[in-house]
Amino acid sequence: MTTVMSKARAALQAARRVAVLTGAGISAESGVPTFRGEGGLWRNHSAMELATPAAWARDPVLVWEFYDHRRRALVDKAPNAGHRALAAFEGRLAGKRRGFTLITQNVDGLHEAAGSRAIVRLHGSIWRVRCSRCGREERDHATPVTPGFAGPGPGPADLPRCACGGVTRPAVVWFGESLRDEDLEAASRAAAEADVLLVVGTSAVVYPAAGLVPHAKRAGAVVIEVNLEPTAARAHVDHHLTGPSGALLPELLHA
Ligand code: OAD
Repeated sequence: MTTVMSKARAALQAARRVAVLTGAGISAESGVPTFRGEGGLWRNHSAMELATPAAWARDPVLVWEFYDHRRRALVDKAPNAGHRALAAFEGRLAGKRRGFTLITQNVDGLHEAAGSRAIVRLHGSIWRVRCSRCGREERDHATPVTPGFAGPGPGPADLPRCACGGVTRPAVVWFGESLRDEDLEAASRAAAEADVLLVVGTSAVVYPAAGLVPHAKRAGAVVIEVNLEPTAARAHVDHHLTGPSGALLPELLHA
């Protein structure tokens, strides 16, 4: 076992409260493309171009085609050993009455599928929709999202609708939108109270999520990072574990 691994494990074993911040990298080994890695483009559009209120106002059908494509690509994806290790770790900490919060920027639902329970979904969920008229939010696992999206060329009449008749949109946070206050508050609290913050598979460049790392550090947490490479959070990291989370998390979190 490397020295960094044993130091990181010792910090986790001593922690009464653990917070985890995950990003797209934790799902990479499940076959889900990351945002800033290769495979982040759809029909030559980047997520940053389509995941915006302006794109929705201009062309909701195109935005739903993009999300419908992403939802369909997720249907056959399963949690990997990294997701599973976090869920098992949460279960063991609960038995010892130690605190655990999983803060994720991912919208893919793979942490839930692995059995994680105490999840703060900072950027929402691709498996939920929200009415653009009445604001009602609900689970929606339909793929395609409506039958009209099964073939080429869906039109406005094919958009998914709420019971009130309004068009529903993916319940995810778009660029230029604010996170929900309650999610941000829960995440900030968990980061501030944590003895250890484990940061996994995020480039740590998108705020306010990335700000949780210095926030935890200032409040006294030991920060452990698991990533293929050092990231923008590196100045706040105590122990950096270099490699894929699917291999490193089971080793790090094993009882
Ligand atoms: P990024 O695509 O920016 O970063 C993915 C990170 O995962 C990189 O640092 C990679 O080095 C790392 N990585 C890739 N494969 C890995 C593996 N197998 N094991 C460990 N690490 C691996 O994704 P995020 O940081 O999640 O926001 O991006 C943050 C936000 O930007 C997203 O939530 C999304 C996006 O725009 C919204 O949609 C609001």
